[in-house]
Amino acid sequence: MTAVHGANPLRDAADRRLPRIAGPSGLVIFGVTGDLSRKKLMPAVYDLANRGLLPPGFSLIGFARREWQDEDFAQVVHDAVKQHARTPFREEVWQQLIQGMRFVQGNFDDDTAFETLKATMEELDKAQGTGGNFAFYLSVPPKFFPTVVKQLKNHGLADPKDGSWRRAVIEKPFGHDLKSAQELNQVVHEVFPPEAVFRIDHYLGKETVQNILALRFANTMFEPLWNRSYVDHVQITMAEDIGIGGRAGYYDGIGAARDVIQNHLLQLLALTAMEEPSSFDADALVAEKTKVLGAVRLPADLGKETVRAQYTAGWQGGEQAVGYLQEDGIDPKSTTDTYAAIKLEVDNRRWAGVPFYLRTGKRLGRRVTEIALVFQRAPHSPFDHTATEELGQNALVIRVQPDEGVTVRFGSKVPGTSMEVRDVSMDFAYGESFTESSPEAYERLILDVLLGDANLFPRLEEVEQSWRILDPIEEYWDRHGKPARYPAGTWGPTEADEMLARDGRSWRRP
Ligand code: BG6
Repeated sequence: MTAVHGANPLRDAADRRLPRIAGPSGLVIFGVTGDLSRKKLMPAVYDLANRGLLPPGFSLIGFARREWQDEDFAQVVHDAVKQHARTPFREEVWQQLIQGMRFVQGNFDDDTAFETLKATMEELDKAQGTGGNFAFYLSVPPKFFPTVVKQLKNHGLADPKDGSWRRAVIEKPFGHDLKSAQELNQVVHEVFPPEAVFRIDHYLGKETVQNILALRFANTMFEPLWNRSYVDHVQITMAEDIGIGGRAGYYDGIGAARDVIQNHLLQLLALTAMEEPSSFDADALVAEKTKVLGAVRLPADLGKETVRAQYTAGWQGGEQAVGYLQEDGIDPKSTTDTYAAIKLEVDNRRWAGVPFYLRTGKRLGRRVTEIALVFQRAPHSPFDHTATEELGQNALVIRVQPDEGVTVRFGSKVPGTSMEVRDVSMDFAYGESFTESSPEAYERLILDVLLGDANLFPRLEEVEQSWRILDPIEEYWDRHGKPARYPAGTWGPTEADEMLARDGRSWRRP
């Protein structure tokens, strides 16, 4: 296969001049009955087709245990598209898409099912002209990754023939810790060459996340302040209002830190803290991200500088929400974290002494993801103390979602005869500055897989660094007691507030 190195990950703008359209190909989704598949993958495939970015004979094969026929599968995709697609439903696009839709029934260790899959792919090559090009999307619980990958090898499905390509797309978390990530990598690489492996971190597919690079490196006004001389600390928040829904089987035993800190939040940290890459090709980006993740230092006292917690029953959006331990399918003695807050430092010249506070949680006040650079106070204030009583610290906030944009917070004189200074905000909102809506992260990433463009996919080095950071914390939590508690609908446990209060700081209320 040919990975497109030297390509620009920020080029969706350029897409409008020269659309990147996938060549003949198909996608096989394992775990097609799952949440992710229905809510994100199926709609993304439809949206790509609707935008004219898929080839006319594009094929979609679902693989799962359910006793479904092709028509049942098509109906499920149809419903998922109607409910979750970003772009309007168009019958002609749908009619073309279902021509290439097939379902293969079986367990992951079922040899007959993999032979059926092989026959189905060959049939689609002939009927739809997929050219033997297939990506295998492993949207399955991590424990099944090795089985599926080995089955693909045993049945000769991983070997491309006559100039075609085969690629593996692996959902996060990649491994459960550093050791298992390395073992998994070995299993995967016995079957697929490194350039054919696409590890998904869908945050990298988000426009606002890619915009961190544009904000920092396409402008002059931010970078001079982007360091320990001006930044007091950084807060990275990924808050969700939802609970674990129907995902008990996946979530229990994994928890918030493995689910999103190991990947999404540490990627946000890497993009925020890294040095300017020499170019935007995958090698240069990975080198800088890996370097800065390698400089991340854990706090000495993990008991004081990390917090894990579980939600208890509470009120959310006017409705009563059950506690984590009462959710369907959860072991009532589970100690899995649904909230995690961690203080990290980055040991290099740019960031020495600047804490990075990361927090995430389910069933928090509202859904919001943001990166806030909180600046130091002015070294001297010529104003009366009372004039600046309501003045906070300056902040630059990258609003990843849902109100995508950037906010700068600074002090301004309150109109009137006295000198009183108060915080005001200056906003850039995507919705106001751009007419077109942003593609969903999975649209971008699935298209990149089909094009063989690996820029927005974490490499093993980054994954390893992330586990190096997280492993000691998880081990500490395993050894020490139970998670703290917080009622659903609040902003997390008091322990997390105390963690920042000890540093004389407080969490932002986004
Ligand atoms: C996934 C996690 O990676 O990200 C989920 O597994 C989480 O637990 C989801 O809900 C959130 O994604 P987004 O794009 O809605 O922020």
